[in-house]
Amino acid sequence: MQGNILKSHGRDHSSHLLITFDTETPEHRRKAREFLSGLVESNLITTALQQWEEAKAYRDVQATIHGNGAITDKDVAALLLSASSVFVGVMVSAEGYRALKLDTRYMPDDPSFLAGAKARVDVLQDPPVEDWEDNFTVPLHALVIVADDVADRLESVVTQLKELLQGFCLRVGEETGTAMRLKADGEEDPSAPVREHFGFVDGVSQPLFYARDIDNARTRRGGIDRYDPSAPLDQVLVKDPGGKDTGYGSYFVYRKLEQNVEGFRDDEMALAKKIAEFAHPKTPTPTPEDIALAGAYMVGRFQDGTPVVERGVAGLGSLPNNFTFDADPDGVRCPFQAHVRKSNPRGDKQRQFGQPLTQERTVRIVRRAISYGKVTLQPGPDDKVGLLFLCAQSSIADQFEFIQNQWANNRNFLREHSGLDPVIGQIQQDQPDDDTLAGHWPKLYGSRNELDFSTNPPSVVGHTFALRLLGPWVTMKGGEYFFVPSLSALRAY
Ligand code: HEM
Repeated sequence: MQGNILKSHGRDHSSHLLITFDTETPEHRRKAREFLSGLVESNLITTALQQWEEAKAYRDVQATIHGNGAITDKDVAALLLSASSVFVGVMVSAEGYRALKLDTRYMPDDPSFLAGAKARVDVLQDPPVEDWEDNFTVPLHALVIVADDVADRLESVVTQLKELLQGFCLRVGEETGTAMRLKADGEEDPSAPVREHFGFVDGVSQPLFYARDIDNARTRRGGIDRYDPSAPLDQVLVKDPGGKDTGYGSYFVYRKLEQNVEGFRDDEMALAKKIAEFAHPKTPTPTPEDIALAGAYMVGRFQDGTPVVERGVAGLGSLPNNFTFDADPDGVRCPFQAHVRKSNPRGDKQRQFGQPLTQERTVRIVRRAISYGKVTLQPGPDDKVGLLFLCAQSSIADQFEFIQNQWANNRNFLREHSGLDPVIGQIQQDQPDDDTLAGHWPKLYGSRNELDFSTNPPSVVGHTFALRLLGPWVTMKGGEYFFVPSLSALRAY
Protein backbone atom coordinates (compact mmCIF):
# COMPACT_ATOMS: atom_id res chain seq x y z
CA MET A 1 0.00 0.00 0.00
CA GLN A 2 1.09 3.57 -0.59
CA GLY A 3 1.73 6.01 2.23
CA ASN A 4 -0.29 9.12 3.20
CA ILE A 5 -3.54 7.16 3.48
CA LEU A 6 -3.62 5.77 7.00
CA LYS A 7 -1.38 8.54 8.27
CA SER A 8 -0.37 11.90 6.86
CA HIS A 9 3.11 12.08 5.31
CA GLY A 10 3.52 15.10 7.60
CA ARG A 11 5.89 17.08 5.33
CA ASP A 12 5.49 20.88 5.18
CA HIS A 13 6.22 21.44 1.48
CA SER A 14 4.38 19.71 -1.25
CA SER A 15 4.26 19.75 -5.03
CA HIS A 16 1.33 18.29 -6.95
CA LEU A 17 1.98 17.29 -10.56
CA LEU A 18 -1.32 17.14 -12.46
CA ILE A 19 -0.66 14.99 -15.48
CA THR A 20 -2.46 14.70 -18.80
CA PHE A 21 -0.81 11.90 -20.75
CA ASP A 22 -0.68 11.90 -24.53
CA THR A 23 -2.57 8.66 -25.07
CA GLU A 24 -3.15 8.83 -28.83
CA THR A 25 -0.75 6.05 -29.82
CA PRO A 26 -0.13 2.62 -28.24
CA GLU A 27 3.54 3.61 -27.89
CA HIS A 28 2.67 6.69 -25.81
CA ARG A 29 0.21 4.73 -23.69
CA ARG A 30 2.88 2.10 -23.02
CA LYS A 31 5.34 4.81 -21.95
CA ALA A 32 2.77 6.38 -19.65
CA ARG A 33 2.04 3.01 -18.03
CA GLU A 34 5.77 2.34 -17.72
CA PHE A 35 6.18 5.70 -16.01
CA LEU A 36 3.60 4.69 -13.39
CA SER A 37 5.00 1.22 -12.78
CA GLY A 38 8.54 2.67 -12.85
CA LEU A 39 7.68 4.80 -9.81
CA VAL A 40 7.35 1.57 -7.83
CA GLU A 41 10.19 -0.32 -9.52
CA SER A 42 12.63 2.53 -8.83
CA ASN A 43 11.48 2.72 -5.19
CA LEU A 44 10.42 6.34 -5.62
CA ILE A 45 6.97 5.69 -4.15
CA THR A 46 6.79 5.91 -0.38
CA THR A 47 5.02 2.84 0.96
CA ALA A 48 2.89 2.85 4.10
CA LEU A 49 5.46 0.57 5.75
CA GLN A 50 8.37 2.83 4.77
CA GLN A 51 6.46 5.83 6.14
CA TRP A 52 5.89 3.98 9.42
CA GLU A 53 9.58 3.00 9.70
CA GLU A 54 10.76 6.51 8.88
CA ALA A 55 8.45 8.00 11.48
CA LYS A 56 10.00 5.66 14.04
CA ALA A 57 13.54 6.57 12.95
CA TYR A 58 12.58 10.26 13.22
CA ARG A 59 11.32 9.75 16.78
CA ASP A 60 14.52 7.89 17.69
CA VAL A 61 16.65 10.77 16.39
CA GLN A 62 14.50 13.25 18.32
CA ALA A 63 15.00 11.19 21.49
CA THR A 64 18.79 11.19 20.92
CA ILE A 65 18.79 14.95 20.43
CA HIS A 66 16.67 15.44 23.51
CA GLY A 67 19.16 13.56 25.66
CA ASN A 68 22.19 15.39 24.22
CA GLY A 69 22.66 18.97 25.42
CA ALA A 70 25.91 19.48 23.43
CA ILE A 71 24.33 19.06 20.00
CA THR A 72 24.16 22.15 17.74
CA ASP A 73 21.11 23.36 15.79
CA LYS A 74 22.90 22.55 12.54
CA ASP A 75 23.51 18.97 13.67
CA VAL A 76 19.87 18.67 14.73
CA ALA A 77 18.72 19.74 11.26
CA ALA A 78 21.15 17.33 9.55
CA LEU A 79 20.15 14.43 11.81
CA LEU A 80 16.44 14.95 11.28
CA LEU A 81 16.97 15.29 7.54
CA SER A 82 18.89 12.02 7.40
CA ALA A 83 16.01 10.24 9.17
CA SER A 84 13.46 11.14 6.51
CA SER A 85 13.23 11.03 2.73
CA VAL A 86 11.16 12.79 0.10
CA PHE A 87 7.58 11.48 0.06
CA VAL A 88 6.22 10.42 -3.33
CA GLY A 89 2.69 9.12 -3.97
CA VAL A 90 0.69 8.61 -7.15
CA MET A 91 -3.00 8.43 -7.95
CA VAL A 92 -4.97 7.88 -11.16
CA SER A 93 -8.36 9.27 -12.25
CA ALA A 94 -11.08 7.20 -13.94
CA GLU A 95 -10.33 9.17 -17.10
CA GLY A 96 -6.71 8.10 -16.64
CA TYR A 97 -7.62 4.40 -16.39
CA ARG A 98 -9.68 4.74 -19.56
CA ALA A 99 -7.15 6.78 -21.54
CA LEU A 100 -4.31 4.40 -20.65
CA LYS A 101 -6.57 1.55 -21.76
CA LEU A 102 -5.84 -0.38 -18.59
CA ASP A 103 -7.61 -3.70 -18.28
CA THR A 104 -11.19 -2.88 -17.21
CA ARG A 105 -10.83 -5.44 -14.43
CA TYR A 106 -8.32 -3.01 -12.85
CA MET A 107 -10.89 -0.24 -12.60
CA PRO A 108 -12.11 0.71 -9.11
CA ASP A 109 -15.90 0.91 -9.18
CA ASP A 110 -16.98 3.85 -6.98
CA PRO A 111 -19.71 5.55 -9.08
CA SER A 112 -18.59 9.12 -8.29
CA PHE A 113 -14.99 8.22 -9.10
CA LEU A 114 -16.12 6.72 -12.41
CA ALA A 115 -18.10 9.85 -13.23
CA GLY A 116 -15.22 12.22 -12.31
CA ALA A 117 -15.42 15.58 -10.52
CA LYS A 118 -16.49 17.51 -13.62
CA ALA A 119 -19.68 15.45 -13.81
CA ARG A 120 -20.51 16.13 -10.15
CA VAL A 121 -20.64 19.93 -10.34
CA ASP A 122 -24.45 20.05 -10.14
CA VAL A 123 -24.63 17.67 -7.21
CA LEU A 124 -22.16 19.70 -5.18
CA GLN A 125 -23.22 23.20 -6.38
CA ASP A 126 -19.67 23.74 -7.64
CA PRO A 127 -18.88 26.58 -10.05
CA PRO A 128 -19.21 25.53 -13.72
CA VAL A 129 -16.13 23.82 -15.17
CA GLU A 130 -15.52 26.73 -17.57
CA ASP A 131 -14.82 28.92 -14.53
CA TRP A 132 -12.17 26.53 -13.17
CA GLU A 133 -8.45 27.16 -13.51
CA ASP A 134 -6.59 25.73 -16.52
CA ASN A 135 -4.84 23.06 -14.43
CA PHE A 136 -8.24 21.44 -13.91
CA THR A 137 -10.36 22.09 -17.00
CA VAL A 138 -8.18 19.71 -19.03
CA PRO A 139 -8.67 15.93 -18.66
CA LEU A 140 -6.51 14.94 -15.69
CA HIS A 141 -5.13 11.40 -15.81
CA ALA A 142 -2.82 11.18 -12.82
CA LEU A 143 -1.56 13.15 -9.86
CA VAL A 144 1.88 12.71 -8.36
CA ILE A 145 2.43 14.18 -4.91
CA VAL A 146 5.98 15.00 -3.90
CA ALA A 147 6.51 16.29 -0.38
CA ASP A 148 9.36 17.12 1.94
CA ASP A 149 10.33 19.43 4.76
CA VAL A 150 13.30 20.66 2.74
CA ALA A 151 12.23 22.67 -0.29
CA ASP A 152 15.53 22.05 -2.24
CA ARG A 153 15.41 18.28 -1.85
CA LEU A 154 11.78 18.30 -2.97
CA GLU A 155 12.61 20.42 -6.01
CA SER A 156 15.26 17.98 -7.25
CA VAL A 157 12.76 15.08 -7.21
CA VAL A 158 10.16 17.24 -8.98
CA THR A 159 12.72 18.11 -11.69
CA GLN A 160 13.62 14.43 -12.05
CA LEU A 161 9.94 13.49 -12.45
CA LYS A 162 9.29 16.22 -14.99
CA GLU A 163 12.23 14.96 -17.06
CA LEU A 164 10.88 11.41 -16.89
CA LEU A 165 7.50 12.67 -18.10
CA GLN A 166 8.87 14.30 -21.23
CA GLY A 167 7.77 12.91 -24.58
CA PHE A 168 4.42 11.31 -23.72
CA CYS A 169 2.48 14.05 -21.89
CA LEU A 170 0.19 16.71 -23.25
CA ARG A 171 0.42 18.76 -20.10
CA VAL A 172 1.91 18.69 -16.60
CA GLY A 173 0.27 21.28 -14.35
CA GLU A 174 1.72 22.04 -10.96
CA GLU A 175 0.26 23.22 -7.66
CA THR A 176 2.50 23.87 -4.69
CA GLY A 177 1.47 23.74 -1.06
CA THR A 178 3.09 24.92 2.15
CA ALA A 179 1.95 24.05 5.66
CA MET A 180 1.69 27.42 7.40
CA ARG A 181 3.29 27.07 10.83
CA LEU A 182 2.30 30.41 12.29
CA LYS A 183 1.77 31.87 15.71
CA ALA A 184 -1.58 33.53 16.42
CA ASP A 185 -0.17 36.92 15.32
CA GLY A 186 0.89 35.44 11.98
CA GLU A 187 4.62 35.24 12.75
CA GLU A 188 6.34 32.17 11.29
CA ASP A 189 7.48 29.65 13.87
CA PRO A 190 8.61 26.11 12.94
CA SER A 191 7.21 24.75 16.22
CA ALA A 192 3.77 26.40 15.79
CA PRO A 193 0.73 24.34 14.76
CA VAL A 194 -0.44 24.47 11.15
CA ARG A 195 -3.00 27.21 10.35
CA GLU A 196 -5.12 27.88 7.30
CA HIS A 197 -5.47 31.38 5.83
CA PHE A 198 -8.52 32.46 7.86
CA GLY A 199 -6.20 32.05 10.88
CA PHE A 200 -7.53 28.83 12.43
CA VAL A 201 -5.42 25.88 13.51
CA ASP A 202 -6.18 23.10 11.01
CA GLY A 203 -5.76 19.34 10.75
CA VAL A 204 -6.70 18.70 14.38
CA SER A 205 -9.48 16.12 14.21
CA GLN A 206 -8.76 13.07 12.07
CA PRO A 207 -9.95 9.47 12.06
CA LEU A 208 -7.08 7.43 13.55
CA PHE A 209 -6.07 3.96 12.38
CA TYR A 210 -2.85 3.03 14.15
CA ALA A 211 -3.01 1.73 17.74
CA ARG A 212 -0.10 4.02 18.56
CA ASP A 213 -2.03 7.14 17.46
CA ILE A 214 -5.22 6.06 19.25
CA ASP A 215 -3.23 5.37 22.38
CA ASN A 216 -1.63 8.81 22.12
CA ALA A 217 -5.06 10.44 21.83
CA ARG A 218 -6.23 8.46 24.85
CA THR A 219 -3.29 9.14 27.12
CA ARG A 220 -1.80 12.43 25.95
CA ARG A 221 -4.38 14.31 23.91
CA GLY A 222 -7.27 14.62 26.33
CA GLY A 223 -8.80 11.15 26.17
CA ILE A 224 -11.21 9.35 23.87
CA ASP A 225 -14.08 8.60 26.24
CA ARG A 226 -16.40 11.34 24.90
CA TYR A 227 -15.35 11.30 21.24
CA ASP A 228 -13.56 8.25 19.92
CA PRO A 229 -11.32 9.19 16.94
CA SER A 230 -10.47 5.61 16.04
CA ALA A 231 -11.76 4.29 12.72
CA PRO A 232 -11.85 0.90 11.01
CA LEU A 233 -9.56 0.39 8.01
CA ASP A 234 -12.50 0.14 5.60
CA GLN A 235 -13.26 3.81 6.32
CA VAL A 236 -10.46 4.61 3.84
CA LEU A 237 -9.18 1.39 2.29
CA VAL A 238 -10.70 -0.57 -0.54
CA LYS A 239 -9.44 -3.70 -2.19
CA ASP A 240 -7.64 -2.68 -5.38
CA PRO A 241 -9.22 -4.71 -8.20
CA GLY A 242 -5.93 -4.55 -10.10
CA GLY A 243 -3.78 -5.59 -7.15
CA LYS A 244 -2.75 -8.83 -5.51
CA ASP A 245 -4.49 -10.19 -2.39
CA THR A 246 -2.71 -7.71 -0.16
CA GLY A 247 -3.24 -4.80 -2.57
CA TYR A 248 -5.30 -2.00 -1.07
CA GLY A 249 -5.92 1.52 -2.24
CA SER A 250 -8.08 4.53 -1.45
CA TYR A 251 -10.19 7.14 -3.22
CA PHE A 252 -8.86 10.70 -3.02
CA VAL A 253 -10.85 13.86 -3.61
CA TYR A 254 -8.76 16.81 -4.79
CA ARG A 255 -10.17 20.35 -4.72
CA LYS A 256 -8.40 23.66 -5.09
CA LEU A 257 -10.31 25.96 -2.72
CA GLU A 258 -9.53 29.68 -2.90
CA GLN A 259 -10.07 31.59 0.34
CA ASN A 260 -11.16 35.23 0.36
CA VAL A 261 -9.71 36.25 3.69
CA GLU A 262 -10.98 39.83 3.61
CA GLY A 263 -14.54 38.69 2.90
CA PHE A 264 -14.41 36.13 5.68
CA ARG A 265 -13.14 38.78 8.14
CA ASP A 266 -15.94 41.18 7.07
CA ASP A 267 -18.52 38.51 7.82
CA GLU A 268 -16.82 37.71 11.11
CA MET A 269 -17.09 41.41 12.01
CA ALA A 270 -20.75 41.62 10.95
CA LEU A 271 -21.51 38.67 13.21
CA ALA A 272 -19.38 40.15 16.04
CA LYS A 273 -21.42 43.39 15.85
CA LYS A 274 -24.64 41.48 16.42
CA ILE A 275 -23.06 39.43 19.22
CA ALA A 276 -21.95 42.69 20.88
CA GLU A 277 -25.46 44.20 20.56
CA PHE A 278 -26.92 41.30 22.55
CA ALA A 279 -24.07 40.79 25.02
CA HIS A 280 -23.45 44.43 25.99
CA PRO A 281 -26.11 46.63 24.37
CA LYS A 282 -24.96 49.79 26.13
CA THR A 283 -21.47 49.55 24.60
CA PRO A 284 -22.21 47.76 21.33
CA THR A 285 -18.77 48.11 19.75
CA PRO A 286 -17.43 44.56 19.29
CA THR A 287 -14.53 43.64 21.54
CA PRO A 288 -11.67 41.35 20.40
CA GLU A 289 -13.45 38.58 22.38
CA ASP A 290 -16.69 39.18 20.41
CA ILE A 291 -14.76 38.91 17.14
CA ALA A 292 -13.04 35.73 18.31
CA LEU A 293 -16.41 34.28 19.32
CA ALA A 294 -17.90 35.20 15.94
CA GLY A 295 -15.09 33.31 14.18
CA ALA A 296 -15.59 30.37 16.54
CA TYR A 297 -19.34 30.33 15.74
CA MET A 298 -18.48 30.11 12.04
CA VAL A 299 -15.81 27.40 12.32
CA GLY A 300 -16.90 25.62 15.53
CA ARG A 301 -13.47 26.14 17.06
CA PHE A 302 -11.60 29.28 18.10
CA GLN A 303 -8.48 30.13 16.12
CA ASP A 304 -6.34 28.26 18.66
CA GLY A 305 -8.45 25.11 18.23
CA THR A 306 -10.60 25.44 21.40
CA PRO A 307 -14.02 23.92 20.56
CA VAL A 308 -16.67 26.63 21.06
CA VAL A 309 -19.08 23.99 22.39
CA GLU A 310 -16.71 23.58 25.36
CA ARG A 311 -16.37 27.25 26.30
CA GLY A 312 -17.04 30.76 25.04
CA VAL A 313 -13.45 32.01 25.07
CA ALA A 314 -10.30 30.66 23.46
CA GLY A 315 -7.44 29.25 25.47
CA LEU A 316 -7.84 25.50 25.97
CA GLY A 317 -4.44 25.26 24.36
CA SER A 318 -3.83 21.58 23.78
CA LEU A 319 -5.97 21.16 20.62
CA PRO A 320 -8.77 19.23 22.36
CA ASN A 321 -10.71 16.67 20.40
CA ASN A 322 -12.47 14.72 23.13
CA PHE A 323 -15.81 16.51 22.84
CA THR A 324 -19.31 16.10 21.43
CA PHE A 325 -22.29 18.43 20.95
CA ASP A 326 -24.45 16.41 23.40
CA ALA A 327 -24.66 19.21 25.94
CA ASP A 328 -25.76 21.69 23.28
CA PRO A 329 -28.95 20.30 21.71
CA ASP A 330 -30.19 23.83 20.85
CA GLY A 331 -27.04 25.07 19.19
CA VAL A 332 -26.50 27.91 21.66
CA ARG A 333 -22.85 27.14 22.25
CA CYS A 334 -21.89 25.86 18.83
CA PRO A 335 -24.32 26.84 16.05
CA PHE A 336 -25.62 23.87 14.03
CA GLN A 337 -24.09 25.31 10.87
CA ALA A 338 -20.55 25.74 12.27
CA HIS A 339 -18.04 24.09 9.94
CA VAL A 340 -16.86 21.37 12.32
CA ARG A 341 -20.38 20.59 13.59
CA LYS A 342 -21.58 20.06 10.03
CA SER A 343 -18.56 18.14 8.82
CA ASN A 344 -18.47 15.79 11.83
CA PRO A 345 -21.68 16.03 13.92
CA ARG A 346 -20.29 13.64 16.56
CA GLY A 347 -23.62 12.03 17.38
CA ASP A 348 -25.98 14.97 16.70
CA LYS A 349 -27.95 12.84 14.27
CA GLN A 350 -28.42 10.10 16.82
CA ARG A 351 -29.63 12.49 19.48
CA GLN A 352 -31.93 14.44 17.20
CA PHE A 353 -33.21 11.80 14.82
CA GLY A 354 -32.23 8.46 16.36
CA GLN A 355 -29.89 7.73 13.46
CA PRO A 356 -27.31 5.14 14.63
CA LEU A 357 -23.99 6.67 15.60
CA THR A 358 -22.17 3.87 13.80
CA GLN A 359 -23.76 5.04 10.55
CA GLU A 360 -22.77 8.68 11.07
CA ARG A 361 -19.20 7.68 11.90
CA THR A 362 -18.79 5.92 8.54
CA VAL A 363 -19.15 9.32 6.83
CA ARG A 364 -15.90 10.63 8.31
CA ILE A 365 -13.11 11.51 5.89
CA VAL A 366 -9.34 11.58 6.29
CA ARG A 367 -8.06 15.05 5.48
CA ARG A 368 -4.69 15.55 3.80
CA ALA A 369 -4.99 19.23 2.80
CA ILE A 370 -2.22 21.81 2.53
CA SER A 371 -2.39 25.59 2.05
CA TYR A 372 -1.25 27.30 -1.14
CA GLY A 373 -0.20 30.87 -1.88
CA LYS A 374 1.65 33.33 0.31
CA VAL A 375 2.36 32.18 3.86
CA THR A 376 0.51 34.91 5.71
CA LEU A 377 -2.69 35.57 7.63
CA GLN A 378 -2.97 39.01 5.96
CA PRO A 379 -2.92 38.36 2.21
CA GLY A 380 -3.10 41.41 -0.04
CA PRO A 381 -6.01 41.92 -2.46
CA ASP A 382 -4.00 40.35 -5.32
CA ASP A 383 -2.68 37.38 -3.38
CA LYS A 384 -4.41 34.18 -4.39
CA VAL A 385 -4.45 31.96 -1.32
CA GLY A 386 -6.36 28.91 -0.14
CA LEU A 387 -6.32 25.22 0.49
CA LEU A 388 -5.33 22.33 -1.78
CA PHE A 389 -7.98 20.16 -0.21
CA LEU A 390 -7.36 16.43 -0.34
CA CYS A 391 -9.26 13.76 1.48
CA ALA A 392 -9.19 9.96 1.51
CA GLN A 393 -12.17 7.66 1.86
CA SER A 394 -13.56 4.31 0.75
CA SER A 395 -16.66 5.85 -0.89
CA ILE A 396 -16.67 9.32 -2.42
CA ALA A 397 -20.48 9.47 -2.59
CA ASP A 398 -21.00 8.34 1.00
CA GLN A 399 -18.21 10.39 2.54
CA PHE A 400 -16.86 13.57 0.89
CA GLU A 401 -19.91 14.20 -1.31
CA PHE A 402 -22.28 13.41 1.53
CA ILE A 403 -20.58 15.95 3.81
CA GLN A 404 -20.45 18.66 1.14
CA ASN A 405 -23.90 18.08 -0.25
CA GLN A 406 -26.10 16.79 2.58
CA TRP A 407 -24.50 18.68 5.43
CA ALA A 408 -22.42 21.74 4.38
CA ASN A 409 -24.74 22.92 1.58
CA ASN A 410 -27.90 21.97 3.45
CA ARG A 411 -29.54 25.05 4.97
CA ASN A 412 -31.82 22.88 7.09
CA PHE A 413 -29.14 20.69 8.65
CA LEU A 414 -30.42 19.45 12.05
CA ARG A 415 -33.00 22.31 12.20
CA GLU A 416 -35.10 24.36 9.78
CA HIS A 417 -33.09 27.39 8.59
CA SER A 418 -29.98 26.56 10.58
CA GLY A 419 -27.99 27.91 7.62
CA LEU A 420 -25.17 27.09 5.23
CA ASP A 421 -21.73 26.03 6.45
CA PRO A 422 -20.07 29.50 6.71
CA VAL A 423 -16.72 28.08 5.56
CA ILE A 424 -17.49 25.68 2.69
CA GLY A 425 -21.26 25.88 2.10
CA GLN A 426 -22.15 26.38 -1.57
CA ILE A 427 -25.43 27.44 -3.09
CA GLN A 428 -27.03 26.77 -6.43
CA GLN A 429 -26.01 29.29 -9.07
CA ASP A 430 -29.67 30.21 -9.70
CA GLN A 431 -30.66 30.26 -6.01
CA PRO A 432 -32.50 33.50 -5.12
CA ASP A 433 -30.29 35.45 -2.74
CA ASP A 434 -32.86 36.14 -0.06
CA ASP A 435 -33.41 35.84 3.67
CA THR A 436 -33.91 32.10 3.47
CA LEU A 437 -30.12 31.99 3.24
CA ALA A 438 -29.74 33.50 6.71
CA GLY A 439 -28.27 31.30 9.42
CA HIS A 440 -29.30 31.30 13.06
CA TRP A 441 -26.76 32.33 15.69
CA PRO A 442 -26.88 32.32 19.51
CA LYS A 443 -27.92 35.67 20.98
CA LEU A 444 -25.98 35.04 24.17
CA TYR A 445 -23.33 32.34 24.33
CA GLY A 446 -24.75 29.29 26.07
CA SER A 447 -28.10 30.88 26.92
CA ARG A 448 -31.17 28.94 25.82
CA ASN A 449 -33.77 31.51 26.62
CA GLU A 450 -33.87 35.22 26.29
CA LEU A 451 -36.64 36.65 28.40
CA ASP A 452 -38.63 39.74 27.53
CA PHE A 453 -39.34 41.48 30.83
CA SER A 454 -41.69 44.05 29.26
CA THR A 455 -44.45 41.47 29.52
CA ASN A 456 -45.86 40.09 32.73
CA PRO A 457 -44.99 37.27 33.22
CA PRO A 458 -41.77 37.65 31.15
CA SER A 459 -42.04 35.93 27.80
CA VAL A 460 -39.42 33.84 26.05
CA VAL A 461 -38.37 35.63 22.88
CA GLY A 462 -35.97 33.09 21.47
CA HIS A 463 -32.32 32.41 21.82
CA THR A 464 -31.07 32.92 18.29
CA PHE A 465 -31.01 35.70 15.73
CA ALA A 466 -31.01 35.38 11.97
CA LEU A 467 -28.14 36.85 9.96
CA ARG A 468 -27.34 36.35 6.32
CA LEU A 469 -23.56 36.29 5.94
CA LEU A 470 -22.23 37.54 2.63
CA GLY A 471 -20.08 34.47 1.89
CA PRO A 472 -19.33 31.84 0.63
CA TRP A 473 -15.70 33.01 0.85
CA VAL A 474 -14.27 29.73 -0.31
CA THR A 475 -14.43 29.20 -4.07
CA MET A 476 -13.75 25.93 -5.76
CA LYS A 477 -11.23 26.49 -8.57
CA GLY A 478 -11.16 22.95 -9.88
CA GLY A 479 -10.55 19.39 -8.83
CA GLU A 480 -10.71 15.72 -9.66
CA TYR A 481 -11.41 12.35 -8.11
CA PHE A 482 -8.54 9.86 -8.00
CA PHE A 483 -7.74 6.34 -6.87
CA VAL A 484 -4.44 5.60 -5.10
CA PRO A 485 -3.54 2.19 -6.57
CA SER A 486 -1.82 -0.51 -4.59
CA LEU A 487 1.85 -1.20 -5.29
CA SER A 488 1.10 -4.58 -6.87
CA ALA A 489 -1.42 -3.01 -9.26
CA LEU A 490 1.02 -0.27 -10.26
CA ARG A 491 3.76 -2.84 -10.89
CA ALA A 492 1.45 -4.69 -13.28
CA TYR A 493 0.62 -1.60 -15.41
C1 HEM B 1 -12.16 20.74 10.34
C2 HEM B 1 -11.01 24.75 7.88
C3 HEM B 1 -12.59 22.66 3.78
C4 HEM B 1 -14.14 18.89 6.32
C5 HEM B 1 -11.70 22.00 10.03
C6 HEM B 1 -11.11 22.94 10.96
C7 HEM B 1 -10.78 24.05 10.27
C8 HEM B 1 -11.16 23.83 8.90
C9 HEM B 1 -10.14 25.31 10.81
C10 HEM B 1 -10.95 22.72 12.48
C11 HEM B 1 -9.70 22.07 12.89
C12 HEM B 1 -9.63 20.60 12.65
O1 HEM B 1 -10.34 19.81 13.28
O2 HEM B 1 -8.84 20.22 11.79
C13 HEM B 1 -11.33 24.51 6.55
C14 HEM B 1 -11.12 25.47 5.49
C15 HEM B 1 -11.55 24.88 4.34
C16 HEM B 1 -12.06 23.56 4.69
C17 HEM B 1 -10.54 26.87 5.66
C18 HEM B 1 -11.56 25.39 2.93
C19 HEM B 1 -10.77 26.33 2.47
C20 HEM B 1 -13.20 21.49 4.13
C21 HEM B 1 -13.90 20.62 3.21
C22 HEM B 1 -14.37 19.57 3.93
C23 HEM B 1 -13.92 19.76 5.30
C24 HEM B 1 -14.09 20.87 1.70
C25 HEM B 1 -15.18 18.39 3.47
C26 HEM B 1 -16.23 18.51 2.69
C27 HEM B 1 -13.65 19.04 7.60
C28 HEM B 1 -13.75 18.01 8.61
C29 HEM B 1 -13.19 18.55 9.77
C30 HEM B 1 -12.76 19.90 9.44
C31 HEM B 1 -14.34 16.61 8.45
C32 HEM B 1 -13.03 17.85 11.11
C33 HEM B 1 -14.30 17.96 11.91
C34 HEM B 1 -14.15 17.23 13.22
O3 HEM B 1 -13.87 16.03 13.19
O4 HEM B 1 -14.29 17.87 14.25
N1 HEM B 1 -11.73 22.58 8.78
N2 HEM B 1 -11.90 23.39 6.04
N3 HEM B 1 -13.23 20.94 5.38
N4 HEM B 1 -13.04 20.14 8.12
FE1 HEM B 1 -12.53 21.78 7.09
